Amino acid sequence: MDMDIDMSKVTVFDHPLIQHKVSILRSVDTSSNQFRQLVEEITMLMCFESMRDLPLMDTEVTTPMCKTTTKVLAGVKLAVVPILRAGLGMVEGVLHLVPSARVGHIGLYRDHVTLEPHEYYCKLPKNIENRLVIVTDPMLATGGSACDAIKLIKERGGRHIKFMCIIAAPEGLKALTEKHPDVEVYCAHVDEKLNENGYILPGLGDAGDRIFGTK
Ligand code: PRP
Ligand code: URA
Repeated sequence: MDMDIDMSKVTVFDHPLIQHKVSILRSVDTSSNQFRQLVEEITMLMCFESMRDLPLMDTEVTTPMCKTTTKVLAGVKLAVVPILRAGLGMVEGVLHLVPSARVGHIGLYRDHVTLEPHEYYCKLPKNIENRLVIVTDPMLATGGSACDAIKLIKERGGRHIKFMCIIAAPEGLKALTEKHPDVEVYCAHVDEKLNENGYILPGLGDAGDRIFGTK
């Protein structure tokens, strides 16, 4: 990665389990069924680690033995917002860990020629300004979709935003960290580059098509 990227808000997961699962995910021989399962598992592992900074508070619990003071989450309200379509594949992974999270949706598709994102849907949970918002999309390519999705969330009041993807291109990381330097970014791997059609190399192909079996 010889691009000048501010990595201070970027976490790249080097956990062996994540790396192993990403390798299977990339393979052209992995079926849609297995692909969906792996996306969910990788998201769960990344989510676990990305929640490390959630605030805790004391609570009193009575065990069968005695009373004790322990910790619980300090009332953090969470929203998970997938970028349609492929981001949908990551939602269950977050919900397994935080079942009380609300779910919003942002519909964006990338024009195949210009690579510009086009918005077709946006519905976010109420009180988005008071929630920790986790935006999900397996692929960060040019970064156009992620930047626009985060802009839409900020325009509606969102303030505390994390972006979670599986594969990031250096070009996308540069665009995202420059446009939204306040957003924490989590990814499982930073790949080499984009090809002339805006696809990530080596990447994993079209994530939406692989999740939904549409190609
Ligand atoms: C893919 C992917 C991202 C976007 C990344 O979606 O899921 O949303 O491309 O590219 P970018 O960083 O250059 O914007 P796509 O537009 O193919 O839509 P889909 O998920 O509905 O297939
Ligand atoms: N979107 C994808 O699904 N894959 C890529 O490699 C780039 C954009």
